[in-house]
Amino acid sequence: INAEWKMEDVLTEELKVIQAIVGPDDHVICALSGGVDSAVAATLVHKAIGERLHCVFVDNGLLRYKERERVMETFEKHLHLPVTCVDATVQFLSKLKGVTDPEMKRKIIGKEFICIFDDFSEELGQKLGKQPVYLVQGTLYPDVIESCPPPGSGRDHSHTIKSHHNVGGLPKDMKLKLIEPLKLLFKDEVRVLGKILNVPEGFLKRHPFPGPGLAVRILGDVTEGNALDILRQADEIFIQSIKDAKLYDSIWQAFVVLLPGNTVGVQGDQRTYGRAVALRAVTSQDGMTADWYDFEHKFLDDVARKICNNVRGINRVVQDITSKPPSTIEWE
Ligand code: XMP
Repeated sequence: INAEWKMEDVLTEELKVIQAIVGPDDHVICALSGGVDSAVAATLVHKAIGERLHCVFVDNGLLRYKERERVMETFEKHLHLPVTCVDATVQFLSKLKGVTDPEMKRKIIGKEFICIFDDFSEELGQKLGKQPVYLVQGTLYPDVIESCPPPGSGRDHSHTIKSHHNVGGLPKDMKLKLIEPLKLLFKDEVRVLGKILNVPEGFLKRHPFPGPGLAVRILGDVTEGNALDILRQADEIFIQSIKDAKLYDSIWQAFVVLLPGNTVGVQGDQRTYGRAVALRAVTSQDGMTADWYDFEHKFLDDVARKICNNVRGINRVVQDITSKPPSTIEWE
């Protein structure tokens, strides 16, 4: 209850701040990722400025199994946010062809996102007869501190792990100005805020998903062969098994990583030379530190069998049993 009281104050304060920043004729755009943060940020800004907020959801070709359909349905049916869906699969994947370096992948994806927002904003401007001025981002406090802690924020910032996220990747000459209403909040606080804003419970409990998507869960070239397709199938089996076992809400994040190269297997009475995947599941408070999740052996055995039996091209499943630190949650 205390947490809700505190977040009621944060909500009142944030609404005032947004209304003070955004002029009465200014339009704002927001990129929805399908995650909790951008959805809560958009709902908050929508409450503050109404229909002058225009949301866009970009399918970059790096989303999970059926993510686009699932997310668009939630936006329309439950959040009642007006959202334009842009299919930019070809644009992203063509830029990522042959790229194996993790930081390079992140840079390319970040840059492409900005180009798409700029185009969206330009087109919207023509329709409205006035260019949008602001871009809303669901940046959280842990994202900020991993780059640069804001002075006077009163937060403990003892960890600096790697430079990524929404922060710092934006071009200096970007036309849109940023609004980041969640930038002093941790994930659990954003969930409380979302609850106050009537964001559906099921949506608020979604595991975090990184902006660069499956690109940082395929080690090596994302576009090679059917990498994206087999990762999606294996990942869906893992997540569905976690949901069926009623473990989803006890886990901070769970996903499958596609490992590079092939390994030898024997399936049916045939020798196979297929891909290996790693299962990653962690518990965490804020993503800054994490413990690997200790599944029961029977659960792991079932998942490994299901993946190898159902996903053509995969013949080996391993589990990541490192915490953060020394590892990060994502593999790239
Ligand atoms: P790491 O891998 O650094 O991740 O332990 C901590 C949390 O952040 C998420 N993550 C990202 N989120 N853009 C995002 O929006 C990114 O580039 C990014 N990289 C990592 C990660 O999934 C985990 O929840």
